[in-house]
Amino acid sequence: MEVVIAPADELARLAADAVESLLRRKPDAVLGVATGSSPLKVYDELARRHTQSGLSFARATAFMLDEYVGLPADHPERYRNVIETEIASRVDFAPGAVQGPDGLAEDLAAACAAYEQAIADAGGVDLQLLGIGTDGHIGFNEPGSSLASRTRIKTLTEQTRADNARFFGGDVTQVPQHCLTQGLGTIMSARHLVMLATGRSKAEAVHQAVEGPVSAMWPGTIMQHHPHVTVLVDNAAASRLQ
Ligand code: F6R
Repeated sequence: MEVVIAPADELARLAADAVESLLRRKPDAVLGVATGSSPLKVYDELARRHTQSGLSFARATAFMLDEYVGLPADHPERYRNVIETEIASRVDFAPGAVQGPDGLAEDLAAACAAYEQAIADAGGVDLQLLGIGTDGHIGFNEPGSSLASRTRIKTLTEQTRADNARFFGGDVTQVPQHCLTQGLGTIMSARHLVMLATGRSKAEAVHQAVEGPVSAMWPGTIMQHHPHVTVLVDNAAASRLQ
């Protein structure tokens, strides 16, 4: 596990460098994209490189980490729409190249199985961008998640719903209770994990993920078993590292 401590803008450039170098050597790469605040500067940087230096996503595909269950198709916080706004519409992905779990499916379990199959059919994820929750979740694998889990339905913790209320006008009651998320086993199947975390609220989760004992109670710790992980953190998020 490589840990880089730098200011947020530099972290975004480093994550974008990893994506760019992958796309330059493998234009049909499979990317894993996260939502939330952590990757936003990375998406800005990738969009800038697309516009200014011709970085192309035309042959690439992307898989989202997770999706809320039950948000209406046109809801701005539906992760499918967030990813469309923050990155997909700003670069040149081919139509249909970005996929996510279907949180509006009638049969959610079947949708999860189909999503796992789609990732496998694409040859697996080459580079997975990740954030980490204050409670240590990656994807929406909350504490207690099976370390070998695959895409499935999960219940969000009160902590995560409170953390995400800022995206719903500060009203926690508007944050869905359930989500579909790639499992920890799914995430671990990606060939390179690039995790970003900034701010003091992430310090404990970063400390546990990097230095804690591997435990389902801190799901990010499973990354210690991955052969290629890049952890990009600012000083505040690194403040509990020893
Ligand atoms: C988002 C996701 C989550 C977030 C995490 C951190 O797709 O899977 O694990 O990465 O909740 O969120 P932010 O970046 O908003 O602090």
